[in-house]
Amino acid sequence: MSELRAAAEEDLGAIYALLERAGLPTSDLASSKPHFAVIREAGRIVAAGALQRFGSAALLRSVVVAGDRRGAGLGRIIVRELEQVARAGKVDRLILLTQTAREFFSHQGYRVIERGDAPQDVQGSEEFRALCPASATCMGKVLTGSD
Ligand SMILES: CC(C)(COP(=O)(O)OP(=O)(O)OC[C@H]1O[C@@H](n2cnc3c(N)ncnc32)[C@H](O)[C@@H]1OP(=O)(O)O)[C@@H](O)C(=O)NCCC(=O)NCCS
Repeated sequence: MSELRAAAEEDLGAIYALLERAGLPTSDLASSKPHFAVIREAGRIVAAGALQRFGSAALLRSVVVAGDRRGAGLGRIIVRELEQVARAGKVDRLILLTQTAREFFSHQGYRVIERGDAPQDVQGSEEFRALCPASATCMGKVLTGSD
């Protein structure tokens, strides 16, 4: 059975391990402290993702599913959960950078945008400035009350 919830402090080690295995950045997580959601199955964290807030916008980042659990809808569940957390916190726009998951995010309603069209403070984040290469695709989604 899968359990979806906000991450606790003791989950961070397992989250970092999943991210590192997938080649996603972790070096700024201790300082940026994004809000993580996780899915746990049989005591093991199998999926995670995070929101890093900047005013009325947020960076959707660090979305990862364990290699042996991909393709089962867990990534979609994590993204939906983070969108609900964002809406509940009055965030109206999500931005992300991805090198490998453009199709996955376009299935969830994200559209490719220019990096320069992201809000200024999101562009100032460590992920934008230093951690994701210029070749990464920038995508965005405007959150409405109902998606
Ligand atoms: C991207 C990732 C999170 C997707 O998670 P997942 O659990 O395998 O995806 P889901 O099973 O929820 O897929 C949801 C939908 O996206 C599609 N999809 C998933 N991965 C896809 C991919 N790489 N390319 C195209 N479509 C993809 C699925 O077919 C499914 O389509 P549907 O809407 O028609 O049913 C996972 O592959 C992963 O951890 N990748 C490595 C880390 C990464 O690149 N993260 C993104 C950076 S922020």
